[in-house]
Amino acid sequence: MKLSVIGCGYLGAVHASAMAELGHEVVGIDVDPSKVEALQAGRPPFYEPGLPEVLTSAGATGRLRFSTDIAEVADATVHFIAVGTPQSADGYAADLKYVDAAIEALLPYLKEGDLIVGKSTVPVGTARRLADRIAESGTGARLAWNPEFLREGYAVKDTIEPDRLVYGVGDERDVEVLDGVYATAIGAGTPRIVTDYATAELVKVAANAFLATKISFINAMAEIAEVTGADITSLADAIGHDARIGRRFLNAGVGFGGGCLPKDIRAFTARAEELGRGESVAFLKEVDAINLRRRVRVVDLAVDALGGAPYGKKVAVLGVTFKPHSDDVRDSPALDVAVQLKGLGADVVVTDPEGIDNARLRHPQLLYTSATEEALRHADLVVLVTEWPEYVGLDPAHVKSISRASVIIDGRNALDTEAWKAAGWSYVGMGRS
Ligand SMILES: NC(=O)c1ccc[n+]([C@@H]2O[C@H](COP(=O)([O-])OP(=O)(O)OC[C@H]3O[C@@H](n4cnc5c(N)ncnc54)[C@H](O)[C@@H]3O)[C@@H](O)[C@H]2O)c1
Repeated sequence: MKLSVIGCGYLGAVHASAMAELGHEVVGIDVDPSKVEALQAGRPPFYEPGLPEVLTSAGATGRLRFSTDIAEVADATVHFIAVGTPQSADGYAADLKYVDAAIEALLPYLKEGDLIVGKSTVPVGTARRLADRIAESGTGARLAWNPEFLREGYAVKDTIEPDRLVYGVGDERDVEVLDGVYATAIGAGTPRIVTDYATAELVKVAANAFLATKISFINAMAEIAEVTGADITSLADAIGHDARIGRRFLNAGVGFGGGCLPKDIRAFTARAEELGRGESVAFLKEVDAINLRRRVRVVDLAVDALGGAPYGKKVAVLGVTFKPHSDDVRDSPALDVAVQLKGLGADVVVTDPEGIDNARLRHPQLLYTSATEEALRHADLVVLVTEWPEYVGLDPAHVKSISRASVIIDGRNALDTEAWKAAGWSYVGMGRS
């Protein structure tokens, strides 16, 4: 099939490449010329494991190209919308200006029977509004909403082998079109839920709201553990054995971040308020507040570890991305912790395998090094905030030999506590005595 993908960021670049890899002919469109140039040259403009390989192999087939020129979508019959829906500058609602602009830009090139497929995460009601706009344009094109559940770090695999497909359709004919697009996954037995626009939109935000709530639940328990001497890891193991609860997403730590969970739960509360149902998801404000408190908790622990006087002390911050295996620093708890410590006068040195360039763009006032040793050398305190395997696997005796620190703050409860203690460290975890 001939597909276009509008917006080639973390979602769209992977989607375009994976769809070409699966046999479709794909044009990816983005307004950012540098991104398009890199993608067209087979270079991913961001770090995502597996993307270089799929860009190269799909590129070699001649089925994948990228452009800034929206007119290049004219041959395609299915058009994916993968532009950003960030938090508005002036509140919690999602900013839909990129989605609206993408639809308006597409309209002149649409033909009778074309299908626009929304993948961006949008507030419930958006698809209905856009479908009306497309209908009034008289092009004869239709709209479906097909939310995306990929995880950064596993985006290629999640796109090629999704755990479920959700089609929000306004016309039954579009199920067949989408089944054609996802023929490989459908053939492999991937569960497929066909529903209306509102349900499809809500599935996505409900899933993210649930995951955020699960993380903040365990972090709330960590707050109680901290004042009672209980151990959150043992607690999570014990409750996680209950199959109804499950152990995944129950790791207490510095909390969630990234380009999705924080802005999605905020947009959900804003939309629910608009709908007169603010109380139904008011708990998400608490989920958000618990999450943000964990960042402050790490900073407080760091200040305590420095004897209450962070000014001029060297703090090695291990990790800056919102999670390992990504270069994404959007709403990263790690970056937030580094900035707060810097604001308290600490001499913060941040290291990360992939996130430094993005972090530097946002916070040039911090010192960055890609060399872990350099960050650790003569540090007065070591704080692990993103659990990259290279930090989890550090030799505590070696770190002790090159730093001045005696305290390790494990903001992800990811380190081998006993090994660090045995090497002479004071180990400080989250929600652990
Ligand atoms: N990143 C994820 O893991 C993920 C997962 C599921 C859903 N989503 C959702 O997907 C959407 C995109 O997220 P992302 O992380 O890829 O964002 P992103 O910021 O990385 O990418 C968005 C891209 O759209 C481009 N763009 C903006 N306006 C455009 C226009 N008019 N025409 C063409 N291109 C345009 C931007 O230049 C940018 O490259 C969001 O709604 C997000 O919530 C993201």
